[in-house]
Parts: sequence; structure tokens; C-alpha cells
Amino acid sequence: MIMHTTLTDSVEEAAAILNSGGVVAFPTETVYGLGAGICHPEALLRLFRAKGRPADNPLIVHLSSVGQVAEVASSLSLQAEQLIERFFPGPLTLVLKKNFSVPYTVTAGLETVGVRCPANLVAREFLRLACCPVAAPSANRSGLPSATSWEAVMQDLDGKIDCLLRGTPSAIGLESTIVDCSGERPLLLRAGAITLEQLRTVVPEITTVAVTEPEERPKCPGLKYPHYAPKASILLCTEVEKIDLNESPAAYIGTAAQPKGVALFKVCSSLEEYGRELFRFFRLCDASGIGVIYCELPSDEGLGRAIRDRLMRAAGLA
Ligand code: TXA
Ligand code: MG
Repeated sequence: MIMHTTLTDSVEEAAAILNSGGVVAFPTETVYGLGAGICHPEALLRLFRAKGRPADNPLIVHLSSVGQVAEVASSLSLQAEQLIERFFPGPLTLVLKKNFSVPYTVTAGLETVGVRCPANLVAREFLRLACCPVAAPSANRSGLPSATSWEAVMQDLDGKIDCLLRGTPSAIGLESTIVDCSGERPLLLRAGAITLEQLRTVVPEITTVAVTEPEERPKCPGLKYPHYAPKASILLCTEVEKIDLNESPAAYIGTAAQPKGVALFKVCSSLEEYGRELFRFFRLCDASGIGVIYCELPSDEGLGRAIRDRLMRAAGLA
């Protein structure tokens, strides 16, 4: 069904549409989110449909302030409290034990809920005006690269959602770091702009999925689905000199100088810029008919871990 999508700069208008049971995309510092109030069961179902999201993939609940955590979580470990104290509001999601107010549609039947309090001021104002916490996946069609600008949201979801609250391009450009704090030992489920090294300065015992027995803890349900994939094929490279350009038209993104002969390229001056530009570049490549995108594979440290993770998934290697 095609519907009218209201494009607005007014936080009040967007919140009013959400509060009347609408599905509303909004900016955050990580990527744009596609929100529905957790107190609006119909809106939640429409959100899954608009995005083409499988029902067994849970949504993150967004809060306007740290104080609201108690509205959705039943208990907090000491480590969760420490992470909240240090990194909320910001690009971090914590998986916590849920309470009765969070419907199973949001958690895909799990007893836990992902909770995030964005730092972006427009997001915070929108969430403050919302009549209940807002469940929001990234505002892209399922499987495509996340949307890091309002134009990218329109490209994927115009005519499928009630409203888009227009904001600036996402400052980080990669989805939030996710830490599961619902069990004995905190576990990094998804790398993001809050790095493992930063997390460990507060909670040294955080482990990563790779070193945990597969059956021991539930993994991030969403990570089993293909993600972040542009139409072009992704080829990962550690040394740009070795790129053999017999496939064309080709593109390149990374921090090293581009190989000669690529039709489109983005040379980034830092990993921060690489992270911020990655999904935008993927979408640009698709719009430009690029067949193969060479991506520099950063090392597994700091923000490099998050970029690597997205690249491996986009390349179908994870
Ligand atoms: O930065 C972000 O996190 C963005 C913005 C909009 O906040 N949101 C986002 O949502 O990336 P989404 O739905 O694209 O990714 C959320 C991931 C999924 O892989 C999902 O499976 C996982 O979080 N997740 C959500 N709730 C969970 C839970 N209770 N336990 C484990 N994983 C969970
Ligand atoms: Mg997503």
C-alpha cells in the first residue's frame, strides 16, 4: 500500500504523528532510525512491514533520558549501571532484562530488550515529546545499507511510512555498539563507535562473541541476516597496490590513496571519516552503476573493528 510520507523539519509535528500511532523516521548520531511507540501495537506491526523486517529480529528501544531506563528494564547489573553512567547518552545500546511494559513484538519474544539513549539533540527532543519509549531499527529497507541522511531514508521508505523528520547527515554513520548485559558476563554483540577498548576501561571483563561458546549465550538475532549490502560486489583489500582492475566500472573507499583507473573513489583522512562515509558511498556506487567496490580493510582495533565488521557482512563473509 502506498501512503503519503510527510517530510518535516518540525520535531513537534513528527512527535504528534508518532503519538497518534504513526511510523516516523528520525535522525540520530549513528544512523537514521525508523520509530514506532512501544505503546502502539499496530504501529509496531506496520514498522516491520515498511522495513521488510523479519518478525524474529528484535528492535532497540530509544529513550530521551537515562532516567527512562527504569521504565523498560526490570533490573540492572552493576556493569550495566557503570556503562550507562559513562556512555549514555551516546552511540551505545545495552541489552537488559525487560519489564512488562515492553511488548514481545519489540523483543521478538525475548525476555531482554535493547536500550539506547541517543546523543543527537533532535532525536532527544523527538523522544522527549513521544508519549512512550520508541522502538526503532535503522531506517533502511531490510538488507540494504543503513541510511545516514534523510535523502537515503526517502529513497528506501517514501510512501511506506507516515513521516520523516529531516535532520543533518549522521555524525558517526555506523550503527551503535551493542553490549549484552543481561547475563553473567557482559558480551560485545556489535562493534560501533564506542570501541571495545573504551568499554573495557569501564568494564574490563567484556568479552566478544568470537571467544564465547555458540550455545552459551543468545547472540544478536539480527546478525544472522545479510546486512549492509549494496548491489555492487564488495572486495576487501589490505594493500591497495595489489588491486587488479580488470572488473569495471570499479570504485574504491579507504584511507590509502585510490588505485589508478577507478571510476569513483573516496579517500578518507581518518577512520572516523571512513565510518561516516561508508554507507553513503555504497548508496552512491549503486546509483552510479558501479559493479565492484574495493574497500580497504582496517585492522581490528578501535573504530577499525566496527568498519571491518560492516565490510565483512557487506561482502557476505560474516
Ligand atoms: O545505532 C543504532 O543502533 C540504530 C539507531 C536507529 O539507533 N539502530 C539499529 O537498529 O541499528 P537495527 O534494528 O538495525 O539493529 C539492531 C540490532 C539487531 O541486530 C537486533 O537483532 C539487535 O540489535 N537486538 C535488538 N534487541 C536485542 C536483544 N534483546 N537481544 C539481542 N540483540 C538485540
Ligand atoms: Mg539495521
